[in-house]
Amino acid sequence: MPGTDQPFDAAAFDPAAYGRFAARDYDELHAELDPAAAVDTLMDLAHGGPVVEFGIGTGRLALPLAQRGLEVHGIDGSPEMVALLRRKQGGEAIPVVIGDFSGVTAGNDFALAVLAINTIYALPSQEAQVACFRNASRHLRPGGRFVVEAWVPDVGAFRNGTAVRPVQIHDGHVELEIARLHPATQRMLTTKVHMSDGSISLIPANHRYAWPSELDLMAQLAGMRLAYRWENWERTPFDDASTAHISVWEKPPVDA
Ligand SMILES: C[S@@+](CC[C@H](N)C(=O)[O-])C[C@H]1O[C@@H](n2cnc3c(N)ncnc32)[C@H](O)[C@@H]1O
Repeated sequence: MPGTDQPFDAAAFDPAAYGRFAARDYDELHAELDPAAAVDTLMDLAHGGPVVEFGIGTGRLALPLAQRGLEVHGIDGSPEMVALLRRKQGGEAIPVVIGDFSGVTAGNDFALAVLAINTIYALPSQEAQVACFRNASRHLRPGGRFVVEAWVPDVGAFRNGTAVRPVQIHDGHVELEIARLHPATQRMLTTKVHMSDGSISLIPANHRYAWPSELDLMAQLAGMRLAYRWENWERTPFDDASTAHISVWEKPPVDA
């Protein structure tokens, strides 16, 4: 099990685990997440160059980027998630490497590498997250950019180390997130509970969370510098009240 209160073993990390639990419900649970602003921002950042998406999933961002004319590649640990991408129009044409995005290679001349929806935290340790930044940098051409979407840790939301958060409330389906915090190791164990028309799915996920400043240091270790930080894909400036961030780190141009 990837989440819940099972003892945590970073060495046993399985990049396919999330998709095994999440694939069945993923598109329904993310149907309300309009990708338009993300796609506009990524289009602007890519300047027409090729894009690799780490954790491409079912193609929520990759397919509209490809439809707007970009060359898009992906890496994903989950064959189940990629099978859903393949079933969609245009999904067969996107090259995808199945494997862990902290280590596998999909090329080395990308203008943009993208890691959306907090998936940097799916990596089980600081070491694995640093490896991911280094891998992103290896995928980029000089001047290329690595874009990460992530929440800002909110340890104040927890009482006695636990929190229950309604994520979606609809007549036909409800999604709750039940979480336990381990501040000493910057870990949050969650199980999402999706109740829909008489069926219940449990989607466990571990997070090794980090503050933006720690991610900046990981980027620095990988030879990249912060270029932009916004609080959302609409590019609202990041400030004291921001609960999430879109961060863009840049690899230096050759002649820098
Ligand atoms: C929350 S989904 C995001 C999917 C897509 N990027 C989107 O925006 O809808 C996270 C995706 O990352 C994949 N994933 C998680 N950890 C991974 C890892 N270490 N290596 C490769 N893929 C991973 C999961 O299988 C899943 O498809």
